[in-house]
Amino acid sequence: MITLSLIKSIFKIKSEEKSLSEVSLEKLTETMKTCIACQLHKDRTQVVPGIYGPKNGLCLIGEAPGYNEDLKGQPFIGRSGKLLDKMLNNVGLVRGKNLSILNVVKCRPTIDGSNRTPTASELKFCGEKWLTKQLQILKPKLLVTLGGISLKFFFPKASVTRSAGTIMVSTDGYPIFSTFHPAYLLRNGRPELYEKYESHFKEITDIMNKDSSTISEIAPLEPAKPKSQKKLTDFFEK
Ligand code: URA
Repeated sequence: MITLSLIKSIFKIKSEEKSLSEVSLEKLTETMKTCIACQLHKDRTQVVPGIYGPKNGLCLIGEAPGYNEDLKGQPFIGRSGKLLDKMLNNVGLVRGKNLSILNVVKCRPTIDGSNRTPTASELKFCGEKWLTKQLQILKPKLLVTLGGISLKFFFPKASVTRSAGTIMVSTDGYPIFSTFHPAYLLRNGRPELYEKYESHFKEITDIMNKDSSTISEIAPLEPAKPKSQKKLTDFFEK
């Protein structure tokens, strides 16, 4: 017989589980903020850990903080961030509310005081040290890489032009939707590209709205066939 005390103890265990993993995300973030493991810490104002949304949700991954992000400690708050928010808001997505936004590299890479692209070794080192751990706690249902640099962290040989709009599975088992970096649209903003970008965000929302909890349930989208990468169907339909 299910007694009231049994129900109470189940709820207690559940809430303890929740607070435990929340504490560990908080703890991880606090430790990250003091990181001096690579040279990038020397030029930073502060670490930019990212913005957390719900667990098992949507997680967008950029490359690294720039000037504005370094000053404010928040990802994507410059011009590209504004475009990104517009795309997200169009489809009912709001950072921190129903999605997380993280970068592979947590400190601003600079050259002569200007932003620069992180090197392959910075991506690997920082990504493995922090991003991988954040993802282990957040357990996202879908990751979205913004641009070629963050894509390369998961698929070193991939090209964003070939893979944009497709889903692939990372070696850690995350379904990854590849799309453009908003800065690319700001630089090359042909109207067709904006339309394509909008359609990607629509597709991302459709995936998130599907009542699916496994990667194979997300798979029915017909993924494209980027060369030298495995498709979802390669993983699940053998
Ligand atoms: N570009 C990125 O990739 N990340 C940011 O946080 C800002 C700009």
